[in-house]
Amino acid sequence: MEKTIIVTGGAGFIGSHVVRLFVTKYPNYKIVNVDKLTYAGNLENLTDIDKLPNYIFEKADITDAAAIKSVFDKHRPDGVIHLAAESHVDRSISNPMEFIMTNIVGTVTLLNAARTNWGNDLEGKRFYHVSTDEVYGSLGAEGFFTETTAYDPRSPYSASKASSDHLVRACHHTFGLPVTLSNCSNNYGPNHFPEKLIPLSINNIKNNKPIPIYGKGENVRDWLYVLDHARAIDTIFHNGKNGETYNIGGNNEWTNIDLIRLLCRIMDKKLHRESGTSEKLITFVKDRAGHDLRYAIDSTKLQHELGWKPSLQFEEGLDKTVDWYLSNEKWLDNVVNGEYQQYYQKQYGNN
Ligand code: NAD
Ligand code: TYD
Repeated sequence: MEKTIIVTGGAGFIGSHVVRLFVTKYPNYKIVNVDKLTYAGNLENLTDIDKLPNYIFEKADITDAAAIKSVFDKHRPDGVIHLAAESHVDRSISNPMEFIMTNIVGTVTLLNAARTNWGNDLEGKRFYHVSTDEVYGSLGAEGFFTETTAYDPRSPYSASKASSDHLVRACHHTFGLPVTLSNCSNNYGPNHFPEKLIPLSINNIKNNKPIPIYGKGENVRDWLYVLDHARAIDTIFHNGKNGETYNIGGNNEWTNIDLIRLLCRIMDKKLHRESGTSEKLITFVKDRAGHDLRYAIDSTKLQHELGWKPSLQFEEGLDKTVDWYLSNEKWLDNVVNGEYQQYYQKQYGNN
């Protein structure tokens, strides 16, 4: 094998698309998926590629230093693409400690393992930390986040991700570890866990349940198709400059209410319902505490320096996403059984 790469969180939403892209595009790389399989980790996301000879799964918790050391000793990776995280803002509000452990302690545990395993032999090595635009805080009506925007995280989730970003940069500065970072906007697409806005709404529309919109639905997010994020990670992993950060975004801003109205129109067509049926399910509920108003990414650096650009228009991506959920009912049913029911009841009550 030409290279061995550890992908952490490869059983999750974005991680599974990154694993699939690397395993299929680079048959000469060994891809080691390291995942604890929390509620968000699902090996069903990878059944189409998990028999390929260059794919290996290792069940491990990134906060467990001994387990992570033994994975590094066993596989001796050339690269790490670190996606494992607690990723849902609402859960970070009700239980911040999980986020501190996985996102901060877990990241430092991986950095230590990479430093120990690589020692001074840093030729061809790379630690790639995948982060979020939420570290930059919240925008008003104008402006965009660039790589030099000051950090201003405002939820326990974004504060824990900001902290991990700082620790990765500190490790580069202090110990010379070869790193790259990227901060991406909201992703959507197949395999997205239905606690997040788009898949939760698809599931509820399908089941004729209320669609909970926080506050007035005026908050703005910049949506990117998950495969475009995976392609950006591939580009940055191979061509990004050591020590650099790249912002990734779709240049595709939507208020939550406009997005959900578009989704309702698509779902009415796909489900052969009379136009306007799904919109009646929209229900305004209590706002999220500390709800960031607007995120918007300027990805000029990545586009100009490394030649990446998003490939899909939002309407087309959303259409494809709905098709995926409607033709993967078993995946959805398996995911929404069990822990999800308790989470949903606690978060939304009888809405
Ligand atoms: P996800 O919640 O779908 O998946 C997270 C994965 O990490 C799961 O497979 C889970 O089992 C695993 N994991 C969690 N804790 C772990 C631990 N202690 N040890 C090992 N594995 C563990 O998350 P996602 O949406 O795919 O996000 C992946 C990464 O991308 C995260 O770092 C997130 O901050 C970042 N990100 C996400 C988005 C987005 O819109 N979803 C946008 C920008 C950046
Ligand atoms: P989410 O998918 O949780 O992503 P993030 O908080 O990381 O941006 O939420 C996207 C937007 O949708 C955000 O403004 C919160 C809002 N939202 C709702 O209005 N209702 C919901 O049930 C959820 C989960 C989110």
